Amino acid sequence: MGGYSSEFAISLKTGTVVYNHLNPEKYNTYKVHIFRDKWVCVTTVGKEFPIDKNDFSVTIDDIKITFDCVFNAIHGSPGEDGFMQGYLELLEIPHTSCGMYQAALTFNKRDLLATLKPYGIKCATSYYLNAGDSIDEAAIVAKVGLPCFVKANKAGSSFGVSKVHEISDLKNAIAIALKEDDEVIIESFLDGVEVSVGVINYKGNVTVLPITEIVSENDFFDYEAKYLGKSQEITPARISPELSAKVAKVAKKIYEILKLEGFSRSEFIFKDDEPYLLEVNTIPGMTEESILPQQAKEAGISLEALFGNAVELALT
Ligand code: DAL
Ligand code: MG
Repeated sequence: MGGYSSEFAISLKTGTVVYNHLNPEKYNTYKVHIFRDKWVCVTTVGKEFPIDKNDFSVTIDDIKITFDCVFNAIHGSPGEDGFMQGYLELLEIPHTSCGMYQAALTFNKRDLLATLKPYGIKCATSYYLNAGDSIDEAAIVAKVGLPCFVKANKAGSSFGVSKVHEISDLKNAIAIALKEDDEVIIESFLDGVEVSVGVINYKGNVTVLPITEIVSENDFFDYEAKYLGKSQEITPARISPELSAKVAKVAKKIYEILKLEGFSRSEFIFKDDEPYLLEVNTIPGMTEESILPQQAKEAGISLEALFGNAVELALT
């Protein structure tokens, strides 16, 4: 848990929830904090021991500990973008997340949407910018219209995201996005019901969890709406069985096309009764405020079962 991005505090919450719900009779679980300046194993009394990056081991009181499995609870880099996956895969340490390529692809909104479009997955009209590119506001608005969303291309928890209503606000929104990533994705506004669809491998079956409808009190589902109570998350979503089935099918198809493993939570907005994909999260939040744990509970899956299942799958 932890990580190098703005999501580190959310990851610490996710990691703590996971730690508290991994069955202690089955698993001997250690907390490992991954920060840019230190990788440490944190004991129950808060003592820190450095992780040996050569083999992801830790030596505590002269006893070297190696891990049978890593529960990856790092949102953002380096846990959700493929780096941890690649590192652990090279070390042959099983982990609960999807593969290295899948993580790198899904964490890059631009590349994810481009990959899925030929499969008939619908998404908003978009415009891309790299850091240093000149900003042609008129061209952006001509393509995506107003209001539009300006997002950091590789980030999570709405860090670097702004909803822009006026052309004069575009430059500032782009600057905000560039604080999180060196790439920016600008998308047209989709005016419809927003839903979040958890898809997991549960006991060997690709399983779609009950769908959550998101009703934000803010202008969009921003950080405050996500984590500070400024939203209602309604599971199951108040949409027709036909629309539920339609979006569940698309979310499952995405899981299968991309050969995801472990957890995923995909976000959609309905437009003209069609689900438009916003993004896929492969390390979805497991905090008290997060959506996927609510969906699992609604499906009758306890957090112990949810997290234990992830570990068992990683070990098979
Ligand atoms: N990126 C946040 C943690 C989520 O998807 O839940
Ligand atoms: Mg996200």
